[in-house]
Amino acid sequence: MTEEEALLENGDEASWNHEVQMLRQRKQRSRTVAAIILARTLFAFFLFWLVFQYILPSTPKTLTEKARVELKSHVLFEEGVPKISRKEFLGRQKKLATVLSKAGVDAFIAEPSPSTAYYTNVSSDFDLSERPFLIIITATGEFAYLAPKFELGRIATLQMVSDKTKVIEWQEEESPFGVLKKEMGFKSVMLDEHARFFIASGLKKTGMEVVDMSREVQGLRAVKSHDEVMILRAVNEFTLHVVQALAKHISVGDTAADIMQAARTLFNLGGTEVGDGVWAIILFGEEAANPHGGANGRKLREGEFVLIDIGTSLWGYGSDVTRTFVPQGSKVSEELLGVWWTVYAAQTAAIMLMRNNKTCSVVDGASRKVIANSGFGEFYTHRLGHGLGLEMHEHPYLNGANPEKLEGIYVTAKQARTLKLKIEEGFGIRLEDPILVTEEGPLLMTGARAQGPYQP
Ligand SMILES: *[C@@H]1O[C@H](CO)[C@@H](O)[C@H](O)[C@H]1NC(C)=O
Ligand SMILES: *[C@@H]1O[C@H](CO)[C@@H](O)[C@H](O)[C@H]1NC(C)=O
Repeated sequence: MTEEEALLENGDEASWNHEVQMLRQRKQRSRTVAAIILARTLFAFFLFWLVFQYILPSTPKTLTEKARVELKSHVLFEEGVPKISRKEFLGRQKKLATVLSKAGVDAFIAEPSPSTAYYTNVSSDFDLSERPFLIIITATGEFAYLAPKFELGRIATLQMVSDKTKVIEWQEEESPFGVLKKEMGFKSVMLDEHARFFIASGLKKTGMEVVDMSREVQGLRAVKSHDEVMILRAVNEFTLHVVQALAKHISVGDTAADIMQAARTLFNLGGTEVGDGVWAIILFGEEAANPHGGANGRKLREGEFVLIDIGTSLWGYGSDVTRTFVPQGSKVSEELLGVWWTVYAAQTAAIMLMRNNKTCSVVDGASRKVIANSGFGEFYTHRLGHGLGLEMHEHPYLNGANPEKLEGIYVTAKQARTLKLKIEEGFGIRLEDPILVTEEGPLLMTGARAQGPYQP
């Protein structure tokens, strides 16, 4: 018997009607509640679906994805860094003319090279051929170039900087050097150190005296201007940030190829030029005992250091940074940690001496002494460092034989670069920071030295 039949049996009609009404309302309400529960359940499913479909996949998983999150604030940083101005190029030509005039030579002659990039904005990317294309700056400050006649069109597309340009063209049936001698009447010229031998001998055959690039001319490029420093600082700081971003996420099992791929992605975030210029040496454990590598693409193992020597370039200026560190969640022996600190102390000793008027060999010697005192002297086979600018390695070189002084009223970019060390099982530790030698003392172009083996 249902509730309705029971009511019908023992109630009067009015109260029966009322009771039926109430019952219907109750049923209605429970249907609404069921509908709400169903709707909520469906909504919950929808939310789960959203999370799995869209939100979870964007949580970084690979080394590349994780590391790139760290560099958000550097996206396209290169666009904010000014290039070398026309005014500065012209100023460099003027300074060079003064030095040439003092040296008693008529002109400086160079093939497309870092020197021409420096004085006239013609980069060394220009392909050299057997036909001479020579850039000439005279002791009176004139600018000229010698070029094969049929190449003039291609050469005109270069964004060469000069006040006035004298174009000396030579035809296939002429001697380029003879044409140069006839047009300019030079008696004595200084040849850029990168020029090829047949250029030197060709010039000599015309009766010109050809002298080597002088220390003073090398010094012009070694001492960096304010704008050059801004570029070097921006690109070296960025390079260190890339290394630090990688270091936070590199772990046992990664290969050098994984790290390189991630590094490329991170450099690309900085802009086109820094993205295009990336190079790196990535070494694990004993591979690092050999300063330039390691070829065997093996996986990073527990208990090993990672060594990353990496750089790129911006507006032609290089970055070159090395860090040796313990990867995330890993440990290395106390002995290895001790050697890390020895290398750090050697770098400190060198940096302390990176001041005006200090001799290159003395700075090199200071770092060497720290290593020798710890008993690793025989394994320090590499020079301390080198200049950095339009070339990754340039004057002056910090080695035991170089009597040059660190000088320049304003600045010189220098590098404290240490070193290769090896104990029985084989390992290598290097720390490298470009340093600017200023009147006030050494200035880090990376912005910060390594803090320790766990904090590159
Ligand atoms: C130098 O050449 C580069 C291209 O290689 C160009 O972007 C830059 O504007 C040039 N600089 C000057 C001052 O013309
Ligand atoms: C470096 O030496 C030159 C002369 O050799 C001197 O005039 C200059 O003051 C010195 N600079 C420093 C920082 O010692």
